[in-house]
Amino acid sequence: MKNKPLIPFFLTAVAGLLLMLGLSLVGVNQQAGDENGEGEEQDPVEYGEELVNENCISCHGDNLEGQGDYPAINNAGENYSAEEIADIAQNGTGDMPGGIANAEEGEAIAEYLMSLSEE
Ligand code: HEC
Repeated sequence: MKNKPLIPFFLTAVAGLLLMLGLSLVGVNQQAGDENGEGEEQDPVEYGEELVNENCISCHGDNLEGQGDYPAINNAGENYSAEEIADIAQNGTGDMPGGIANAEEGEAIAEYLMSLSEE
């Protein structure tokens, strides 16, 4: 039996593969659980506020009142429609660079900025 010395290696390999498969299944299950656990959808206005605080205040100022060369955007809802704000968040305007938000984020941002002007 020439091949016999290989059997332990083979068994180790199989055991390793099974372990990997098992762990990845556990991982997939955990992920599904997390997604289900979230349950209710996040309010788009709150989501938009988070995005604005992360992505926009660095230029437009902590309270969105503008600073230096950057215009105020706390009144953007008076000057722009929600569609236009979503477009600006995604594509930029004038000296403002594009690519800050994707389409979905742009809509949430627009809802938040519109909500500021409704008050
Ligand atoms: C890198 C700096 C920078 C960041 C980050 C930035 N902006 Fe701007 N934004 C500008 C500049 C500069 C202008 C003025 C553009 C112009 O008219 O030339 C502007 C203009 C705007 C305007 C038009 C304002 C007006 O009255 O004409 C809106 C609305 C706006 N930004 C929204 C946003 C939102 C929403 C974000 C976050 C997703 C954001 N900006 C992030 C620099 C920035």
